[in-house]
Amino acid sequence: MFLTRPSIIRGITAFTNQVSARALHSTQIAMAPIKVGDKLPVADLFEDSPANKVNICELTAGKKVVLFAVPGAFTPGCSKTHLPGYVQNADKLKSEGVGEIVCVSVNDPYVMAAWGAQHNTKGKIRMLADPNGAFIKALDLGTNLPPLGGFRSKRFSMVINDSKVEELNVEPDGTGLSCSLADKIKIKK
Ligand code: BEZ
Repeated sequence: MFLTRPSIIRGITAFTNQVSARALHSTQIAMAPIKVGDKLPVADLFEDSPANKVNICELTAGKKVVLFAVPGAFTPGCSKTHLPGYVQNADKLKSEGVGEIVCVSVNDPYVMAAWGAQHNTKGKIRMLADPNGAFIKALDLGTNLPPLGGFRSKRFSMVINDSKVEELNVEPDGTGLSCSLADKIKIKK
């Protein structure tokens, strides 16, 4: 059989497409959202700058941590209600045995730092950035929010005890302001 150059190229392209489609398919991992009792995934978050990594498993080892995640820094619901509630309740939560309160968003660390400064979070809440969403993807608690640019975190709160999830409150619609608010957190004795 005599093959022309274009037909050889078409054949190679078709073969390559098939292989890469299979490769893509075989690397898809069935995910399920993290649940009570699960250990947190290993992930780095960033505080104040990209040079300042915070390993979430190290941060939560051997203590109770309240972590809440928001769809976006500076957005109205997060700025007027979600973050201020945790600022107001920080001393109470700490008096109940919480070692750290952590706010996470799929934003860059400079944005998180500026948002924290605006809300006087220093000494109360650690403002941790998940710039490419790796932590939120590993929890399988992300959502697509085109008005905010695409992949973001669902709004949720979590009580973590020694790196394990002890309580989890994910907003049913992903962004509402109900079960994940600070005054809904119940710290187990
Ligand atoms: C908010 O105001 O919290 C918000 C705005 C847009 C998308 C998601 C949340």
